[in-house]
Amino acid sequence: MDAATFVEELSAANQEILSRLAPAETLVAESGGDLRLENLLKIALRNELEATEIAARWLVSTADVEVKLSFARQAGDEAKHYRLIEAHLRELGADLSGFDPLAQGLSPLTVYLDTLEDTVERVAAGQFTREAIALVKNQQFIAFCEAQGHTATATLYRETIQKDEEYHHLLGRQLLLRLATTPQAQERARQAATRTLELAEELQHLALTKMGVHHAPGC
Ligand SMILES: [Fe+2]
Ligand SMILES: [Fe+2]
Repeated sequence: MDAATFVEELSAANQEILSRLAPAETLVAESGGDLRLENLLKIALRNELEATEIAARWLVSTADVEVKLSFARQAGDEAKHYRLIEAHLRELGADLSGFDPLAQGLSPLTVYLDTLEDTVERVAAGQFTREAIALVKNQQFIAFCEAQGHTATATLYRETIQKDEEYHHLLGRQLLLRLATTPQAQERARQAATRTLELAEELQHLALTKMGVHHAPGC
């Protein structure tokens, strides 16, 4: 099939799975005040740093100039998100001295992404799919913040972070339209997207069962 048809099919397949990441109950506000918000924002710091790291690694090891610049833009944005969330946490009164966002090491999703060497796989997994996941999780987080009265946090996500994540997904879409032109490339892209979604589902399941976290924002 042509690249445009493929990208639409991949998007539809992703959305079907993503709807499982957004069950209605995750929008039900849980009890918990600023301490809980602080925890969620610290998880967000970890996600942003891991997203920065992967985009930067791929920037170095990609020859295609358009793709290189796309990863560079993403790395810069994710680093900016880290700083914005960090400053916001301090405004909320959080003490970040001694805080290491990577204390638990890289997440399984980042470890998987780091194994990808093929450009079409990287774009399909790291931008087109991972950023679509981030959009869904951030939307849930915004709804949670609004329900809990965390207005400033909701505004930060809605007006700044979420717009960048939308753009990262769009970058992935534009690159796939140029790169996913053969059946082989489309199959590699599809498999990388599927594995990314599986890992995200596993991560969410883990967060739900082990930590009781429903609303952790993405990247
Ligand atoms: Fe992003
Ligand atoms: Fe981000």
